Parts: sequence; structure tokens; C-alpha cells
Amino acid sequence: MKIELLPVVRCEQVAATVYALHMRSFYFASTIQPGQFINIKVQSGFYPLLRRPFSVAQTQDDVITILFDIVGEGTRILSLKKPGDMVDVLGPLGRPFTLPQSDTVPLLVAGGLGMAPMPILTKWLKANGFKNTETFLGARSKDYLVDYQLENVHYATDDGSQGYHGTVVSLLDQWFTDNRGTEVTVYACGPNPMLRGLQNLLQGRSLKGQVSLECVMACGIGICQGCPVESVNSTKRYRLVCNDGPVFDIHSVVIQ
Ligand SMILES: Cc1cc2nc3c(=O)[nH]c(=O)nc-3n(C[C@H](O)[C@H](O)[C@H](O)COP(=O)(O)OP(=O)(O)OC[C@H]3O[C@@H](n4cnc5c(N)ncnc54)[C@H](O)[C@@H]3O)c2cc1C
Ligand code: FES
Repeated sequence: MKIELLPVVRCEQVAATVYALHMRSFYFASTIQPGQFINIKVQSGFYPLLRRPFSVAQTQDDVITILFDIVGEGTRILSLKKPGDMVDVLGPLGRPFTLPQSDTVPLLVAGGLGMAPMPILTKWLKANGFKNTETFLGARSKDYLVDYQLENVHYATDDGSQGYHGTVVSLLDQWFTDNRGTEVTVYACGPNPMLRGLQNLLQGRSLKGQVSLECVMACGIGICQGCPVESVNSTKRYRLVCNDGPVFDIHSVVIQ
């Protein structure tokens, strides 16, 4: 883990509300693993004081990419970055996704911008011989579906404006019924209600999964104790999303 000032390559709008910020760093591009995140100080000075956490969405040669939507001041400032601006980045942080067993089909399940860690995960799975990944992407409506560098995508929208009319978890349930007997490992990221639904679905079908959790973070490095998640069947009652996660076995955590 280290802090580096990264030059911005470009910041582009890739969907109605979503930006991709590309930054150059050989160190980050060569050390980041899928599911890990970086902590960004969005500008110099004291405001905003805290770094903001972002999943690394993709790496290409010596460039790393994050995807974000504007939800507050930090992300608004990031959206205005120009080529050559310098961005203060701490990372790589957190525990990454792990590879599935060799005879399983990886299923990537994302809600909204929970798709952010999926492009780098897809690339890594392919590089490790898992050519037939399937991606399940859900959102409120088609305007919120972000399929940036995703492959084999099954879409679900709450209002039926694109793909399956319903939640991404119901769509996945249908896929399981249609593909009975296929060994799978699920990788998920998204809003907590979606992840809770997924947890129940996988529990009911005795299936494994890894989940990347999001929460409001302060330090991002295990010092402030501000990102607890209750754990199931562990000697420790609480674990830290920043240090013990953000990726957890989906059956090992209580998703609030
Ligand atoms: C491990 C991790 C990875 C993340 N990856 C991404 C990513 O790839 N792309 C992306 O767009 N966002 C990601 N986030 C969320 C991102 O960090 C926040 O959206 C960002 O910090 C908001 O900063 P801001 O200054 O724009 O908004 P703020 O002014 O800090 O907050 C605006 C609003 O968003 C809420 N908020 C802030 N952080 C979070 C959060 N983590 N979860 C839910 N609500 C929050 C605040 O409570 C407030 O209501 C990630 C968070 C974590 C913990
Ligand atoms: S954010 Fe400080 S301990 Fe996790």
C-alpha cells in the first residue's frame, strides 16, 4: 500500500450519470487485484477532508479506471478533472475476490453502480481460464444500466424499460431454474437490499458467493473502526469492511 500522485489521462462520461476517470500509474495498474479499492483525496487543501473510496473498475497497461456517479461534493470535484491534473491516491486497499473452483461458471451479479468492480473481475477470470462468465445487471430503469466493459450481460430493470421486468435477483433465480445442475460461483456488488435478496436466494439453493460490500468509510485502513459489519459464525462479532473486506463470503456477514 502506498500514496501516489497520479496524472489524469482523461475523465469521460460513459452513461447518463456515470463518469470514468482514467489515471496513469504503473504501480497501481500492476498491483491492484479485482475487488480492491483505492482511497482518493479529491483535491489539495482541507476540503473535503476525508479521502473517498472507489473500486478499481479496470486496468489497461499502466492506466487504472474508476467509475462513479455524482452524489456529493467529492464526486462532483472528480468529475471536473482534466488531463494532466494530479490525483492523490492511497491503495491498493482491502481484500480482493478469489478465483472459483475450476469446474464452475462464474456469475457476476450487480445492481446499479455496483457493477464498478466487474470489468476488472471479468478480465481476470478470463485470464485465468474462465471464458464463459455470465453477468446479471439490474437497475431502476434503462437509464441507470451501466454495462461499461461487461460481457454476456443479462439485463433487469424494475420498470421493465430494458430486459427482464423485475429485480436482478429474480432474473438470476430464473436462470438457476433454466440451468439446473450447472456448478456456479456468484460474485456480487450492489445496494444492500439487493444483496440481502441474493444472500437468501443462494442460501435457499445452497450456493456459494462472494460479495463486495459498500459503506461510508472514514480512514479506509482499519484505524477508525468506523466500518463494522456483523459476522456470522466467526470468533469476531464484527469485522471491518475496509480491512477484512470489502469482499466477504456472502454467507459470512449480516447485510443490513
Ligand atoms: C469499498 C468501496 C468502494 C466504492 N466504490 C465506488 C465506486 O466504484 N463508484 C462509486 O461511484 N462509488 C463507490 N463507492 C461509494 C463512494 O465512496 C461514495 O459515493 C463517495 O465517497 C461519495 O463522496 P461524495 O463526496 O461525492 O459524497 P458525500 O458528500 O460524501 O456523500 C453524499 C451522499 O452519499 C452518501 N454516501 C457516501 N458514501 C457512501 C457509501 N459508501 N455508500 C452509500 N452512501 C454513501 C452520503 O451518506 C451522502 O448521503 C465505494 C465505497 C466503498 C466503501
Ligand atoms: S474506515 Fe476506518 S476502520 Fe474502516
